[in-house]
Amino acid sequence: MKTNRIIQGDALQELQKLPDAVAQAIIADPPYFNVLENEAWDTQWKTSADYLAWCEAWVAESMRVLRDDGLVFIFGQLGKREHTFLHLMSRLTQQHQFHDLIIWDRAVGYDERRDSFTPQYEMVLVMRKGERVKFNKDAVRIPYDAKTIETYLKDKRYKDMDARRAHLEAGKFATNILRVPSLKGNSKEKCGHPSQKPIDLIEKLIACSTDEGDLVLDPFLGSGTTAAATQRLGRQWLGIEKDTAYVQIAQKRLASDPDLFSKS
Ligand SMILES: C[S@@+](CC[C@H](N)C(=O)[O-])C[C@H]1O[C@@H](n2cnc3c(N)ncnc32)[C@H](O)[C@@H]1O
Repeated sequence: MKTNRIIQGDALQELQKLPDAVAQAIIADPPYFNVLENEAWDTQWKTSADYLAWCEAWVAESMRVLRDDGLVFIFGQLGKREHTFLHLMSRLTQQHQFHDLIIWDRAVGYDERRDSFTPQYEMVLVMRKGERVKFNKDAVRIPYDAKTIETYLKDKRYKDMDARRAHLEAGKFATNILRVPSLKGNSKEKCGHPSQKPIDLIEKLIACSTDEGDLVLDPFLGSGTTAAATQRLGRQWLGIEKDTAYVQIAQKRLASDPDLFSKS
Protein backbone atom coordinates (compact mmCIF):
# COMPACT_ATOMS: atom_id res chain seq x y z
CA MET A 1 0.00 0.00 0.00
CA LYS A 2 1.35 3.41 -0.98
CA THR A 3 1.79 5.64 2.09
CA ASN A 4 2.72 9.29 2.81
CA ARG A 5 -0.09 10.61 0.63
CA ILE A 6 -3.42 12.38 0.88
CA ILE A 7 -6.48 10.56 -0.43
CA GLN A 8 -9.09 13.10 -1.45
CA GLY A 9 -12.51 11.65 -0.71
CA ASP A 10 -15.08 10.65 1.84
CA ALA A 11 -13.61 9.13 5.02
CA LEU A 12 -16.05 6.22 5.26
CA GLN A 13 -15.79 5.25 1.59
CA GLU A 14 -12.00 5.51 1.56
CA LEU A 15 -11.56 3.63 4.85
CA GLN A 16 -13.58 0.77 3.34
CA LYS A 17 -10.92 0.40 0.62
CA LEU A 18 -8.00 0.00 3.07
CA PRO A 19 -6.65 -3.42 4.13
CA ASP A 20 -7.20 -4.91 7.61
CA ALA A 21 -4.81 -4.20 10.49
CA VAL A 22 -2.34 -1.84 8.79
CA ALA A 23 -2.42 1.30 10.98
CA GLN A 24 -0.62 1.40 14.32
CA ALA A 25 -2.43 4.58 15.37
CA ILE A 26 -5.43 6.48 14.03
CA ILE A 27 -5.75 10.16 14.82
CA ALA A 28 -9.32 11.21 14.02
CA ASP A 29 -10.44 14.81 14.41
CA PRO A 30 -13.87 14.53 12.78
CA PRO A 31 -16.53 17.19 12.32
CA TYR A 32 -17.89 17.90 15.83
CA PHE A 33 -21.55 18.28 14.80
CA ASN A 34 -22.96 21.81 14.88
CA VAL A 35 -20.23 23.26 17.10
CA LEU A 36 -18.61 25.36 14.36
CA GLU A 37 -21.92 26.72 13.14
CA ASN A 38 -20.44 28.64 10.20
CA GLU A 39 -18.59 25.67 8.70
CA ALA A 40 -20.55 23.61 6.15
CA TRP A 41 -18.50 20.50 7.04
CA ASP A 42 -19.69 20.71 10.67
CA THR A 43 -23.37 21.20 9.89
CA GLN A 44 -23.89 18.54 7.21
CA TRP A 45 -26.22 16.25 9.24
CA LYS A 46 -29.93 16.93 9.80
CA THR A 47 -30.06 15.31 13.24
CA SER A 48 -27.62 14.17 15.89
CA ALA A 49 -28.94 10.62 15.29
CA ASP A 50 -27.68 10.81 11.66
CA TYR A 51 -24.31 12.09 12.87
CA LEU A 52 -24.01 9.35 15.50
CA ALA A 53 -24.82 6.63 12.95
CA TRP A 54 -22.21 8.03 10.56
CA CYS A 55 -19.60 8.10 13.35
CA GLU A 56 -20.36 4.52 14.32
CA ALA A 57 -19.77 3.47 10.71
CA TRP A 58 -16.40 5.19 10.24
CA VAL A 59 -15.16 4.15 13.70
CA ALA A 60 -16.04 0.49 12.94
CA GLU A 61 -14.01 0.73 9.70
CA SER A 62 -11.16 2.42 11.58
CA MET A 63 -11.09 -0.45 14.08
CA ARG A 64 -10.81 -2.93 11.23
CA VAL A 65 -7.89 -1.01 9.72
CA LEU A 66 -6.15 -0.74 13.13
CA ARG A 67 -3.45 -3.20 14.17
CA ASP A 68 -4.29 -5.44 17.12
CA ASP A 69 -2.08 -3.48 19.52
CA GLY A 70 -3.01 -0.07 18.08
CA LEU A 71 -4.91 2.91 19.47
CA VAL A 72 -7.56 5.17 17.98
CA PHE A 73 -7.66 8.79 19.20
CA ILE A 74 -10.97 10.61 18.55
CA PHE A 75 -11.24 14.34 19.20
CA GLY A 76 -14.49 15.86 20.40
CA GLN A 77 -15.70 19.25 21.49
CA LEU A 78 -18.89 20.52 23.12
CA GLY A 79 -20.66 23.62 21.90
CA LYS A 80 -22.58 26.14 23.98
CA ARG A 81 -25.62 23.88 24.02
CA GLU A 82 -24.48 21.11 21.66
CA HIS A 83 -23.24 18.00 23.52
CA THR A 84 -23.48 15.15 21.01
CA PHE A 85 -19.90 14.10 21.81
CA LEU A 86 -21.11 12.86 25.22
CA HIS A 87 -23.55 10.52 23.48
CA LEU A 88 -20.91 9.51 20.96
CA MET A 89 -18.49 8.49 23.72
CA SER A 90 -21.21 6.44 25.39
CA ARG A 91 -22.16 4.66 22.15
CA LEU A 92 -18.62 3.98 20.99
CA THR A 93 -17.45 2.60 24.33
CA GLN A 94 -20.33 0.11 24.29
CA GLN A 95 -19.12 -1.14 20.90
CA HIS A 96 -15.33 -0.98 21.31
CA GLN A 97 -12.83 -1.12 24.16
CA PHE A 98 -12.37 2.10 26.11
CA HIS A 99 -8.72 2.87 26.80
CA ASP A 100 -8.52 6.46 28.12
CA LEU A 101 -10.07 9.90 27.98
CA ILE A 102 -7.49 12.60 27.42
CA ILE A 103 -8.22 16.21 28.19
CA TRP A 104 -6.53 18.63 25.82
CA ASP A 105 -6.07 21.73 27.97
CA ARG A 106 -5.87 24.53 25.42
CA ALA A 107 -4.33 26.86 28.04
CA VAL A 108 -6.70 29.70 27.12
CA GLY A 109 -10.49 29.85 26.97
CA TYR A 110 -11.97 29.79 23.47
CA ASP A 111 -15.48 31.09 23.78
CA GLU A 112 -16.79 33.77 26.16
CA ARG A 113 -19.92 32.09 27.48
CA ARG A 114 -21.96 34.47 29.62
CA ASP A 115 -23.96 31.73 31.33
CA SER A 116 -21.17 29.36 32.36
CA PHE A 117 -17.43 29.00 32.84
CA THR A 118 -15.32 29.79 29.79
CA PRO A 119 -14.54 26.50 27.98
CA GLN A 120 -10.84 25.67 27.86
CA TYR A 121 -10.56 22.01 26.90
CA GLU A 122 -11.35 19.49 24.24
CA MET A 123 -11.58 15.75 24.78
CA VAL A 124 -9.79 12.90 23.07
CA LEU A 125 -11.46 9.52 23.47
CA VAL A 126 -8.87 6.74 23.19
CA MET A 127 -9.98 3.23 22.25
CA ARG A 128 -7.99 0.04 21.76
CA LYS A 129 -8.57 -3.01 19.66
CA GLY A 130 -6.90 -5.75 21.70
CA GLU A 131 -5.95 -6.18 25.36
CA ARG A 132 -2.26 -5.32 24.86
CA VAL A 133 -1.35 -1.98 23.31
CA LYS A 134 1.86 -0.41 22.11
CA PHE A 135 2.44 2.55 24.42
CA ASN A 136 5.76 4.27 25.14
CA LYS A 137 5.49 6.43 28.26
CA ASP A 138 9.15 7.41 28.04
CA ALA A 139 8.57 9.07 24.67
CA VAL A 140 6.33 11.71 26.23
CA ARG A 141 8.16 12.56 29.46
CA ILE A 142 8.21 16.20 30.54
CA PRO A 143 11.62 17.52 31.67
CA TYR A 144 12.03 18.67 35.28
CA ASP A 145 13.83 22.00 35.69
CA ALA A 146 17.27 21.98 37.35
CA LYS A 147 15.98 23.48 40.62
CA THR A 148 13.29 20.79 41.02
CA ILE A 149 15.84 18.05 40.37
CA GLU A 150 18.16 19.54 42.98
CA THR A 151 15.33 19.78 45.56
CA TYR A 152 14.13 16.21 44.95
CA LEU A 153 17.66 14.82 45.22
CA LYS A 154 17.95 16.27 48.73
CA ASP A 155 14.93 14.23 49.83
CA LYS A 156 16.31 11.54 52.13
CA ARG A 157 13.28 9.23 51.79
CA TYR A 158 14.64 7.76 48.55
CA LYS A 159 16.86 4.71 49.10
CA ASP A 160 18.15 4.22 45.56
CA MET A 161 19.46 7.65 44.66
CA ASP A 162 20.93 6.51 41.30
CA ALA A 163 17.51 5.30 40.16
CA ARG A 164 15.96 8.48 41.51
CA ARG A 165 18.47 10.65 39.62
CA ALA A 166 17.92 8.68 36.39
CA HIS A 167 14.13 9.20 36.67
CA LEU A 168 14.50 12.90 37.43
CA GLU A 169 16.87 13.41 34.52
CA ALA A 170 14.53 11.54 32.16
CA GLY A 171 11.60 13.79 33.17
CA LYS A 172 8.20 13.19 34.71
CA PHE A 173 5.54 11.03 33.12
CA ALA A 174 2.89 13.03 31.28
CA THR A 175 -0.64 12.85 32.71
CA ASN A 176 -3.76 12.45 30.63
CA ILE A 177 -4.31 16.21 30.84
CA LEU A 178 -2.18 17.48 27.98
CA ARG A 179 -1.56 21.20 28.24
CA VAL A 180 -0.61 22.52 24.81
CA PRO A 181 -1.62 26.09 23.93
CA SER A 182 -4.10 26.30 21.07
CA LEU A 183 -2.88 28.15 17.98
CA LYS A 184 -3.20 31.92 18.11
CA GLY A 185 -4.38 33.76 15.00
CA ASN A 186 -0.87 35.09 14.33
CA SER A 187 0.91 31.76 14.92
CA LYS A 188 3.45 30.81 12.23
CA GLU A 189 1.94 27.34 12.29
CA LYS A 190 -1.57 28.54 11.30
CA CYS A 191 -2.35 27.77 7.70
CA GLY A 192 -6.00 28.58 7.10
CA HIS A 193 -8.06 25.83 8.75
CA PRO A 194 -10.62 26.87 11.39
CA SER A 195 -9.94 23.92 13.68
CA GLN A 196 -6.28 23.27 13.05
CA LYS A 197 -4.68 21.37 15.95
CA PRO A 198 -1.22 22.28 17.30
CA ILE A 199 1.47 20.02 15.89
CA ASP A 200 2.99 19.61 19.39
CA LEU A 201 -0.24 18.02 20.62
CA ILE A 202 -0.56 15.57 17.73
CA GLU A 203 3.13 14.74 18.04
CA LYS A 204 2.61 13.58 21.65
CA LEU A 205 -0.19 11.22 20.59
CA ILE A 206 1.93 9.75 17.82
CA ALA A 207 5.15 9.53 19.86
CA CYS A 208 3.53 7.48 22.66
CA SER A 209 1.56 5.11 20.43
CA THR A 210 3.92 4.28 17.54
CA ASP A 211 7.51 3.41 16.70
CA GLU A 212 9.57 4.72 13.82
CA GLY A 213 8.27 3.32 10.51
CA ASP A 214 4.75 2.55 11.84
CA LEU A 215 1.75 3.79 9.87
CA VAL A 216 -0.42 6.59 11.27
CA LEU A 217 -3.80 7.16 9.62
CA ASP A 218 -5.89 10.34 9.80
CA PRO A 219 -9.35 10.06 8.18
CA PHE A 220 -10.04 13.84 8.55
CA LEU A 221 -6.68 15.34 7.67
CA GLY A 222 -7.75 19.00 7.39
CA SER A 223 -4.64 21.16 7.11
CA GLY A 224 -2.33 18.14 7.39
CA THR A 225 -1.26 18.39 11.05
CA THR A 226 -1.07 14.62 11.54
CA ALA A 227 0.97 14.21 8.38
CA ALA A 228 3.37 16.99 9.39
CA ALA A 229 3.84 15.53 12.90
CA THR A 230 4.25 12.02 11.53
CA GLN A 231 6.79 13.16 8.97
CA ARG A 232 8.72 14.95 11.73
CA LEU A 233 8.81 11.76 13.85
CA GLY A 234 9.90 9.40 11.05
CA ARG A 235 6.65 7.41 10.86
CA GLN A 236 4.60 6.75 7.72
CA TRP A 237 1.23 8.43 7.24
CA LEU A 238 -1.95 8.29 5.23
CA GLY A 239 -4.53 11.07 5.29
CA ILE A 240 -8.10 11.32 3.99
CA GLU A 241 -9.76 14.70 3.41
CA LYS A 242 -12.88 15.59 1.46
CA ASP A 243 -12.45 19.31 0.85
CA THR A 244 -10.26 20.33 -2.13
CA ALA A 245 -9.19 23.61 -0.49
CA TYR A 246 -7.91 21.81 2.63
CA VAL A 247 -6.16 19.16 0.54
CA GLN A 248 -4.29 21.97 -1.22
CA ILE A 249 -3.42 23.67 2.10
CA ALA A 250 -2.07 20.38 3.48
CA GLN A 251 -0.05 19.65 0.33
CA LYS A 252 1.52 23.11 0.42
CA ARG A 253 2.27 22.76 4.11
CA LEU A 254 3.94 19.38 3.72
CA ALA A 255 6.05 20.56 0.79
CA SER A 256 7.34 23.60 2.69
CA ASP A 257 10.31 23.88 5.02
CA PRO A 258 9.50 21.80 8.14
CA ASP A 259 10.84 24.63 10.35
CA LEU A 260 8.00 26.82 9.16
CA PHE A 261 5.43 24.70 10.91
CA SER A 262 7.51 23.19 13.66
CA LYS A 263 6.88 25.78 16.38
CA SER A 264 4.34 28.54 16.82
C1 LIG B 1 -11.92 19.13 12.71
S1 LIG B 1 -11.34 19.23 11.08
C2 LIG B 1 -9.73 18.47 11.12
C3 LIG B 1 -8.61 19.47 11.39
C4 LIG B 1 -7.23 18.85 11.42
N1 LIG B 1 -7.04 18.02 12.58
C5 LIG B 1 -6.14 19.92 11.39
O1 LIG B 1 -5.30 20.00 12.33
O2 LIG B 1 -6.09 20.69 10.44
C6 LIG B 1 -12.36 18.07 10.26
C7 LIG B 1 -12.07 17.90 8.78
O3 LIG B 1 -12.88 16.83 8.28
C8 LIG B 1 -13.19 17.12 6.92
N2 LIG B 1 -14.36 16.31 6.56
C9 LIG B 1 -15.66 16.53 6.83
N3 LIG B 1 -16.43 15.51 6.40
C10 LIG B 1 -15.60 14.61 5.84
C11 LIG B 1 -15.79 13.32 5.23
N4 LIG B 1 -17.00 12.78 5.12
N5 LIG B 1 -14.70 12.68 4.79
C12 LIG B 1 -13.45 13.21 4.89
N6 LIG B 1 -13.21 14.43 5.45
C13 LIG B 1 -14.26 15.11 5.93
C14 LIG B 1 -13.43 18.63 6.91
O4 LIG B 1 -13.27 19.16 5.61
C15 LIG B 1 -12.38 19.11 7.93
O5 LIG B 1 -11.19 19.52 7.26
